[in-house]
Amino acid sequence: MKALVLSGGKGTRLRPITHTSAKQLVPIANKPILFYGLEAIAEAGIKEVGVIVGDTADEIRSALKDGSRWGINITYIQQEAPLGLAHAVKIARDFLKDDDFVMYLGDNLIKDGLKEQIAQFVKNKPNAQILLAKVPHPENFGVAVLKDSKVINLEEKPKQPKSDLALVGVYMFDKNIHTAVNSIKPSDRGELEITDAIQYLIDNNYTVSPHIVQGWWKDTGKLDDMLEANRLILDTILTDTRGTVDSASNIEGKVVIEKGAKVVNSSIRGPAIIGENAEIINSYIGPFTSIYFNVKIENSEIEHSIVLENSTIKDIKRIGDSLIGQNVQISHTEKKPAAYRIMVGDSSKLEII
Ligand code: TTP
Repeated sequence: MKALVLSGGKGTRLRPITHTSAKQLVPIANKPILFYGLEAIAEAGIKEVGVIVGDTADEIRSALKDGSRWGINITYIQQEAPLGLAHAVKIARDFLKDDDFVMYLGDNLIKDGLKEQIAQFVKNKPNAQILLAKVPHPENFGVAVLKDSKVINLEEKPKQPKSDLALVGVYMFDKNIHTAVNSIKPSDRGELEITDAIQYLIDNNYTVSPHIVQGWWKDTGKLDDMLEANRLILDTILTDTRGTVDSASNIEGKVVIEKGAKVVNSSIRGPAIIGENAEIINSYIGPFTSIYFNVKIENSEIEHSIVLENSTIKDIKRIGDSLIGQNVQISHTEKKPAAYRIMVGDSSKLEII
């Protein structure tokens, strides 16, 4: 069994972060999203992992290297453009050969890992096995209809969903998927859709089995989902203090303070994580906040947010529900005229009070 991890894509829903960096490397509880997936793959005993890369190939390569830190062997596969999930399978043919494989979307997080569903696939030997989860708004997802424990129909974002079972970003295939991806045509949005390839398998009497996910899963492709994933992972952390906290500071709940971090005259209410060499001075860090390395927060309050490396926040009353990119500077000014003075990248989103 091999793994194919998709780490290309356009990332339009997470601009401007994705103008300059890979969304799969945004840290959730200070660990890049993609690392969680690779850990799950390694834990399931898979050694040969193909990673599909696009415009952000260099960044992904320098983060994952040869995969030895997870005990896996990574082969990079360049996708010339994000032409769809089934296109990614097509270009990975030389790497996959005729082997069974698990396809994993690099921006997805699954609480329970992959061991159980891979064991089910290996035992029952269907031609494909798809992960499904019950969701409140199936119209926003690929939706599966089941009959007698088989998948009989798949629809991409149906207006009137026939079930509440959404496709999760993990799929298992045997070699017949190659016939399917070579038989389908691009969809209206110009992509080779994996749902069309799986529907091809169903229509040609191959067996497509469902595996219903019990624990939570998150597609972190949108801001709210990323903050929610951060909340879910921070909920599982354990207190660990490797940095320094002065006696004027107050730490409540589960808080990780990484090496070299300094907390001075501040209050931190967990779950929260403060990254390496970060400085928190005269500030309040509220629950569900991840502060990455070398961030400086001074005379400010922030909660339910993610702040990426090397950013500075100074003299700001309150920040909530935010994702702040790398090397960002946010500060208060008394200069006249009293106006917001901002330099923000394309496709940024600011909600100002
Ligand atoms: P999506 O989140 O569906 O697509 P996207 O990354 O283009 O984002 P957006 O919809 O916001 O524009 O992709 C799921 C995962 O698969 C993600 O990790 C990117 C990856 N991917 C590829 O590697 N190649 C592709 O051709 C596509 C469409 C996605």
